[in-house]
Amino acid sequence: MDRMNMQENPVLGLATGSTPEGIYQGFIQEYNKGKVSFKNVTTFNLDEYTGLKKDDPNSYCYFMNEKLLRHIDIAMERVHIPSGTAVDLKSECLKYERAIERAGGIDIQVLGIGENGHIGFNEPGASFSSRTHVVDLADSTIQANSRFFKSVDEVPKQAISMGIQTIMDSKEILLLISGEAKADAVAKLLEEEVSEDLPASILKKHANITVIIDEAAFKGTL
Ligand code: F6R
Repeated sequence: MDRMNMQENPVLGLATGSTPEGIYQGFIQEYNKGKVSFKNVTTFNLDEYTGLKKDDPNSYCYFMNEKLLRHIDIAMERVHIPSGTAVDLKSECLKYERAIERAGGIDIQVLGIGENGHIGFNEPGASFSSRTHVVDLADSTIQANSRFFKSVDEVPKQAISMGIQTIMDSKEILLLISGEAKADAVAKLLEEEVSEDLPASILKKHANITVIIDEAAFKGTL
């Protein structure tokens, strides 16, 4: 929060999903109390499903509007979420990388972690040198995210995601881990070597990362 007030043009990387919702509520509360302004903040979201229109209630664009953006004074031209309906998805990915570069890189990236250890939608096996790209979602991710859809068949099979290198280039990372479903991934993170089979393991090499974890997610390791 201090950063938003002190830094001239902070660039925030944002995640969707259940885990960061509390942080976004906190942002809104502080904004409503007049303690923070988002006027000069630029944001880049980690990912977006392909094929869902911006106003689809399951799109990450819709999520961000509902959970944060429409409640604060951010300038919408500073908000970046990849377009999953772009005609040319590959060039959308390139454009996204360039926009991050032009903004001077991401100052703080908020991250969650998937049950399979994914970060963004970089599934196990994704290259550590990847940049924003189109990804095939793992079956486990489709299952995990089906809770938001009417049925598992409605979950898109692909997404645009910042690459692992894009995430690692962030100056600072805030990794949030919550819930028992993440306990296995956490145990692996602590026990296993850094490997592309466990995308989040690369975060051990980031020079400036803070991890906030709840008891349930830590359970498997006690
Ligand atoms: C979301 C994202 C994903 C989620 C992860 C955890 O933008 O990139 O990596 O952070 O799947 O999701 P939740 O928080 O719903 O458990």
